[in-house]
Amino acid sequence: MNVLAIGDIVGDVGCEMFLEHIDGIKKQYEIDFCIVNGENACSNNGITRKKAELLLENGADVLTLGNHTFRQKDAVGLLAGNKRVVRPVNFPEGTVGNGYTVVEKNGKKIAVINALGRIYMDYMDCPFRGIDRVLEKLHADYIFVDFHAEATSEKISMGWYLDGRVTGVFGTHTHVQTADAWVLPKGTGYITDLGMTGPIYSCLGVKREITLERFISCIPRRFEFADGKAQLNGAVFTVGESGKTEKVEAICVK
Ligand SMILES: [Fe+2]
Ligand SMILES: [Fe+2]
Repeated sequence: MNVLAIGDIVGDVGCEMFLEHIDGIKKQYEIDFCIVNGENACSNNGITRKKAELLLENGADVLTLGNHTFRQKDAVGLLAGNKRVVRPVNFPEGTVGNGYTVVEKNGKKIAVINALGRIYMDYMDCPFRGIDRVLEKLHADYIFVDFHAEATSEKISMGWYLDGRVTGVFGTHTHVQTADAWVLPKGTGYITDLGMTGPIYSCLGVKREITLERFISCIPRRFEFADGKAQLNGAVFTVGESGKTEKVEAICVK
């Protein structure tokens, strides 16, 4: 089975890039299941029901989120009503939505867990213990974890923590693809960050003149997503019957 994970979709440019290429990528890599991080799908971050449905109806099987989960008011209704959209598992207990989901595809049960890092992020419960609690009760053939975090050290530590316990761990949030896609010794496929699906001539998706001015002047300015030429970043996990990953390949479509 081949599982495709796609890095943060940024704004309309990212959505269009996904819609334009997803069928071709699925064909080329013989993809059975597709996980997409949609936390920046709206032009001012977050996700709405409309954007979520657009991605789910056109090739995504499950959407994961991150630190921008509740940026759009619409997210509350979306998370309460759509089992295929998951928010980080380590929000405080009682938060609307689910931190994981199990979807059946091609006769296999595929679980997707989302968690948020804590380094340079808002206060959250422990992502390691949050994932442990899910794994204790989970019954699935394959388990994938989207660890949405800033620090490479925290993400790599999560990879080692989950090695042999889940099928794959991929990082999101930094919007820059890392060159470390590999299979950990106990069979967990891993990449520190999938990268971003959005505008190339930008700073992590944001108009570069805005970020540049902010760094130079030290005066805060509202971020706006860039437009123009786009890229799609992700990784393909080839998994065996045992539930372990055999190969991970990072992909970048421009
Ligand atoms: Fe993001
Ligand atoms: Fe993020």
